[in-house]
Amino acid sequence: MSNAPYADIARVDALDKVRGVTLYAADRQPDNLVHAALATATIAKGSIISIDTSAAEAVVGVRLILTHENIGPLRSAGFLLGGGLAFQSFQPMSSPTIAYRGQPIAVVAADTLEAAIEAAALIKASYLEEAFASTIESAGAETIVQAEAPLGHPSPDVVFGDADQAFADADVQVNATFTSPPQHQNPIELVATVAQWSGEKLLIHEGTQNANALRFGLAKQLRIPAENIEIRSHHLGGGFGQKNSLQMQTVFAAIAARRIGRPVKLVVPRSQLFHDASFRPQSVHRMQLGADTSGKIVAALHSVDGQTSRHDLFPGEYCQTSARLYGIPNFRGFHRMIRTDTQTPGYMRAPFEHTACLAMECAVDELAYRLDQDPVALRLANDTAHDPVEDLPLSSRHLAECLRRGSERFGWRDRRMEPLSMRAADGSYIGWGVACGAYPGNAAANVARLTITAEGSVEISAGVHEMGQGIRTVLANVVSRHLNVPLESVTALLGDTSGTYPHLTAGSWGTTASIPATIKACDAMWQRLREIAPDAPSEANPIDLIRRAGLPSLQVEVRSSAPGQDISAADEIATGGASPTGPAYPGFVTFSYIAHFVEVRIEPNTRRIRVPRVVSVADCGRVLSPRTARSQVWGGVVWGIGAALREESEVDPRYGGFLNADIAEYMIPVNADIGTIDVDFIDEPDPQINEAGVKGLGEVVMAGVAPAIANAIFHATGKRLRSLPFRAEHLL
Ligand code: MOS
Repeated sequence: MSNAPYADIARVDALDKVRGVTLYAADRQPDNLVHAALATATIAKGSIISIDTSAAEAVVGVRLILTHENIGPLRSAGFLLGGGLAFQSFQPMSSPTIAYRGQPIAVVAADTLEAAIEAAALIKASYLEEAFASTIESAGAETIVQAEAPLGHPSPDVVFGDADQAFADADVQVNATFTSPPQHQNPIELVATVAQWSGEKLLIHEGTQNANALRFGLAKQLRIPAENIEIRSHHLGGGFGQKNSLQMQTVFAAIAARRIGRPVKLVVPRSQLFHDASFRPQSVHRMQLGADTSGKIVAALHSVDGQTSRHDLFPGEYCQTSARLYGIPNFRGFHRMIRTDTQTPGYMRAPFEHTACLAMECAVDELAYRLDQDPVALRLANDTAHDPVEDLPLSSRHLAECLRRGSERFGWRDRRMEPLSMRAADGSYIGWGVACGAYPGNAAANVARLTITAEGSVEISAGVHEMGQGIRTVLANVVSRHLNVPLESVTALLGDTSGTYPHLTAGSWGTTASIPATIKACDAMWQRLREIAPDAPSEANPIDLIRRAGLPSLQVEVRSSAPGQDISAADEIATGGASPTGPAYPGFVTFSYIAHFVEVRIEPNTRRIRVPRVVSVADCGRVLSPRTARSQVWGGVVWGIGAALREESEVDPRYGGFLNADIAEYMIPVNADIGTIDVDFIDEPDPQINEAGVKGLGEVVMAGVAPAIANAIFHATGKRLRSLPFRAEHLL
């Protein structure tokens, strides 16, 4: 198989998307549709004493009102990171309990959306209120020290060498604390369910990263066989971790549809999503670095306080990445979870790596200034080819090349070291900053099915979801190259329980899980083709061979697993499991890397912070679709700018809940905030993680952007900002 770079093709679904042909879950309009809306709790913790639905029932067009009193026994599908299938273990409306402000307390289904919304607003509950804690600083927040990680997650505590002693003995020490507020994913596509019964069979349209979790979770909640449930999730308008599991409202739509005997659509509005789906937890990071006078980092201590809910433990893996960014011989990472009265937080793009890299990469910049060393040179001097956590070689690490190439493209050599040393013609302070990101090279088992018909269609079904990241384009590019078929002939059946098992797509393993299976399916197809056409030349088109053999179609199905993983892991996903593994494999460890170079300009009077220019160079192994990969980096950098300068889910500790629960007040970057983002890839295949050499890209792209901006702000102003988001007022 050729090892040449992959062709830079257009996004295969681009035209459909711009023409509005692509249907998302909420676009489905089955006949006789009923619309549902949620009523939510107006206290932060306690229980419902009574609930009055009489005014709501009087609204014309209301068909059904569900509350905890009439919904019947409702089981939890369990917390995804505790071995279950839902985003949290707590299922609203299964009891009178209120665990957090904004929790659903009733579902109204009506002939029109307007009637459903009006009626939901008329539902009144009286409550018994209890004391609550909504932030990790609040009185009553409970600290959990967790030495053992739940269910196969790597330990949150990472220790090697004697970091305390090495830090105490170090010539130079840096000691700094960084904070991140809670943030919300805010994909453009809201969480939405369309539930439709025909007899005993339930069909669900919902954008999800985990159609299998919906199927098996709902089967448990509704007490019906999983085979009776079909899930369609062909396109997501963004997932980012918020859609990685069974949501709280899916079962409501299914129950309402069954009771009414008509299809039900429930679109969760943005304001409710801030309270009824996962989010990035608040975290505090203390980072201590010790180095010798030459700039060799000899010790790092990273202690993290991370928010979790009262009912679940969200296992933070921050130190798994900070421990590995450089070849530091002594490391102690320590993680505490703080229980608050919120919904359970979860994965949000680069869930640990974004803040872990903020702490490490800002501290490294501080160290560079203490040593009067160039920040790029200091990083190069601490490069490593060895994974210190597992004491194993890294299968590939081109971070030094990312730094060198990025320096070149950015023009870093013209940078003056001293803060406040660069001014623009308009008087703005110019700051240039650099930081790196890393993300585990995860992988997962998979099942792929490849079907070629004599009519000329080639369909691949594999266990991965299209979230807008471009996996259909990747699959088309790979199948077209490996099978010698035209790109246009390839379609992908994804996120559909009628295809192969659509298990969790997350952890940047979309490609590392589905592509090895897809290539294996192509190989298996060639084997079948050689049986029907033994003399066919290697450049033959399989569609022609099938036609010539007089066959209507050929189909192969293969299972694949990650390096060192038993092939039976591919069978676990048949029952709702996910089977992710990595970044440690037998004999090696795999990470993806990126280096970001950032220019900020700060207006001297208002201190308004702009980011006109970013250069990002990524090492994600082999790039399978250059255009969508570039797009991933753009998206990650924009998000990094958002995390650095804009995003914060605001909490009033007196009331709980999130105050700025819409994207008018939850600030995100707009086009005018974004300048040039120049992207380059190393594009060197990883020799060990899989045959394609692909390591994963979707999350590493965001890691390192915020610290690069923080470091650039220091270079521009001489001020060290350590609490996200960095705003003009922090520079006054
Ligand atoms: Mo991702 S934040 O692992 O869905």
